Amino acid sequence: MGQDDLFGSSVNEPQAYDVAARAEWLRNELNRHSHAYYVLDNPSIPDAEYDQLFRELQELEAKHPELIVSDSPTQRVGGEPLPEFHQVRHEVPMLSINNGFSEEDIQNFDRRVREGLGNDHDIRYACELKFDGLAINLRYENGLLVQASTRGDGFTGEDVTVNIRTIRSIPLKLQTTTPPSLIEVRGEVLMFKSDFAKLNQRQRTANQKEFANPRNAAAGSLRQLDSRITAQRSLRFFAYGIGRLDGAPMPTRHSALLDWYQSLGIAVCAERTVVSGAQGLLDFYAVIGQRRTQLPYEIDGVVYKIDDIEQQKILGYVSRAPRFAIAHKFPAEEATTTVLDIEIQVGRTGALTPVARLAPVSVGGVTVTNATLHNEDEVRRKDIRLGDCVIVRRAGDVIPEVVANVPERRPDNAIEFVMPTACPVCGSPIVRLEEEAIARCSGGWLKCAAQRKGGLLHFVSRRAMDIEGLGEQLVEQLVDKGLVNTPADFYHLTLDTLSDLDRMAKKSAQNVLDALEKSKTTTLARFIYALGIRHVGESTAKSLAKHFGSLDALLASDEARVLEVADIGPVVALSILSFFSDPLNRQLIDQLRASGIHWEEGEPEQSNDLLAGKTFVLTGTLPTLSRDDARAMIEAAGGKVAGSVSKKTSYVVAGEEAGSKLTRAEELGVVILDEEQFLKLVESGS
Ligand code: IVH
Repeated sequence: MGQDDLFGSSVNEPQAYDVAARAEWLRNELNRHSHAYYVLDNPSIPDAEYDQLFRELQELEAKHPELIVSDSPTQRVGGEPLPEFHQVRHEVPMLSINNGFSEEDIQNFDRRVREGLGNDHDIRYACELKFDGLAINLRYENGLLVQASTRGDGFTGEDVTVNIRTIRSIPLKLQTTTPPSLIEVRGEVLMFKSDFAKLNQRQRTANQKEFANPRNAAAGSLRQLDSRITAQRSLRFFAYGIGRLDGAPMPTRHSALLDWYQSLGIAVCAERTVVSGAQGLLDFYAVIGQRRTQLPYEIDGVVYKIDDIEQQKILGYVSRAPRFAIAHKFPAEEATTTVLDIEIQVGRTGALTPVARLAPVSVGGVTVTNATLHNEDEVRRKDIRLGDCVIVRRAGDVIPEVVANVPERRPDNAIEFVMPTACPVCGSPIVRLEEEAIARCSGGWLKCAAQRKGGLLHFVSRRAMDIEGLGEQLVEQLVDKGLVNTPADFYHLTLDTLSDLDRMAKKSAQNVLDALEKSKTTTLARFIYALGIRHVGESTAKSLAKHFGSLDALLASDEARVLEVADIGPVVALSILSFFSDPLNRQLIDQLRASGIHWEEGEPEQSNDLLAGKTFVLTGTLPTLSRDDARAMIEAAGGKVAGSVSKKTSYVVAGEEAGSKLTRAEELGVVILDEEQFLKLVESGS
């Protein structure tokens, strides 16, 4: 299939070579593709082809400067840095909006609205997202973007036109032959989470300061005096309001205003709707709250506006905020607090994680007292010290982390963190391999109680041996009293020993024994996973079990055979082989089998071609598999992985934040799989 089939044929390509016509055609083509990519989120052309057309236009304009027009895509990046930003007085002030936090706040808002309108019926509200970026005013005169300004104090902002022109979701010219003589489009400039991550990665590589969050990154990028820097920062824009309008009728509804914007080629967010009554508002809040972490950008709430513009006018404004709108905020995902101490946590593989003990603070609706600092390099890079005031973040179910310090609020006596040289739990030396970011306790299971506890907890965990009732506190007691040292010891516990422990009655002790007994009937995959071999997660354990069929076959295998397994590379293979070659581990396995743990053994797998002839496209982030894992699994089963979706694609495997490839797959009717369905397919071929 040629590119034209894939992306739709180009329109009106001039045959005879007429420079002016060619330049105009190139401008239109480039604008059309930019719009498809940045506004419709549906790319219509590969990047390389876009770049080629762009270069052609640049060369044409260099030879014929008289052909350059201000809305040419080549004119997005300005020249020399500005000495400063000029002040801009807003003709219509840019107001703020009142906040509500609870259901009651929203019900009160709706009641005030109905009272103000003398209306007993349900009010129609336009619902949209509250973007966490910066408010911008875009001034279009006769369809051309002539000025862009920040909100500032609401009355006077700064002229950031040259920077705004670099944002490709903002049209330099409105898509209409009958533009209003003047329109001020208002909306939010923001940075997508993925672009933020890439930017920080670049900053890190260049040894430059990282940004604390996408909002700061967007603000920092927009306030650059050198627009060439802004141009490299992938900013986005969503419109949500209007300032002055001359020479066109004002739409009668807010929702119609946004639809009009969309028809003019201005980006508006797809997550918008019109509902009626307070219950409609609360339903919208709940739906968006569920999806919040999956959105490609950050929001800090939702916004409700009366849809009917006439009704908006009747209600009007009270001190700098409208009576007809309210922001319903989500619990903040970030908060500032003080670092009381930095402690070292030892994980089951001996990995040392610096953890900040914090003055209690509410983040995302939960009180946080600890936050991870990941590793030593991270503490250094972020320059986090004891006593520092820091930003902590907790998004969704993710473990809270320290994002950055607040330099202005560092006390004089802040103490620098020093990584210990001995394990704080067992005193063994700490080693850090050169190529690894993680420092580890060298004590291993036998010497280090922290590793022992971690390993035992992993063994009993739900996805491993699934022994209910053996929780953290119980395992801690068993280890501290020397009653359990290896997983095999669990199976020798008696009713008397267990019921003697703190907070254990006969009944709960018997429950633990029953759960232990039940766990003896298991699967080979669970058993392998439960052993806690480094780099062997659940999916690798499953692959091993399936490939070898029996534990003895696995124990007897060598590197070449382990490398035959679908998603296993040299590092993982080495870890598996060295685990099984350790006599203590062999002994443990024998003891566990002797205590009655058993599973149904299967036949070793023949090399398979289950997916022969099938082409996959991977997009977005899968919950547990990395791209490389998924690719290895597909290839091991004889399938192929392609970079873009076409009619020939057999399956698209889509994860979180899947973008245009997913849309394309939907359009073409290609089968879309989530991770679970994908794993099933790889295992069974159907
Ligand atoms: S409307 C007259 N809609 O929130 C009402 N604002 O406090 C003007 N914001 O500075 C604002 N998403 O930057 C509106 N969908 C949305 C918004 C939104 C984010 C920001 C905006 C403004 C602040 C209002």
